[in-house]
Amino acid sequence: MDRQKLMDTLIPAAWEAAKNAYVPYSGFRVGAALLTKSGKLYPGCNIENSAYGPTNCAERTAIFSAVAQGEREFTAIAVVGQFADGTPAGGEGFAYPCGVCRQVMAEFCHPDEFLVLLENHQGERKALTLRELLPYGFVLRD
Ligand code: THU
Repeated sequence: MDRQKLMDTLIPAAWEAAKNAYVPYSGFRVGAALLTKSGKLYPGCNIENSAYGPTNCAERTAIFSAVAQGEREFTAIAVVGQFADGTPAGGEGFAYPCGVCRQVMAEFCHPDEFLVLLENHQGERKALTLRELLPYGFVLRD
């Protein structure tokens, strides 16, 4: 799939997934759509918790759902987010993945091949490699 097709497929799926976000504390809805190399799409949303710490980000919800189904090879993930009233995220409206989610991506995804696709409230899009988002990531063994 070329980059344009990837964007056109995954980004709307991520906005759709954001509708399921459970966000009674922050009100910030995040959606993710993860494409496996086998061609399956796994949605994810953020799921908050009254104890705050157990909150799961949309990206990890998608990745863990896929891994739980036996998938371990991924092509790209789209991530979008905004407040429930439509207020955009900081960072010019791009919902950049947090550090924890970047590290989880690094566990399964190739740094130069895996793409993180983003769209802001103005419809501007970005495609970043995992290495661009997580340079010099931790490596346990070469
Ligand atoms: N959040 C995500 O879902 N993904 C990220 O990469 C960063 C933050 C969620 C967690 C929390 O529910 C809300 O956004 C506000 O931090």
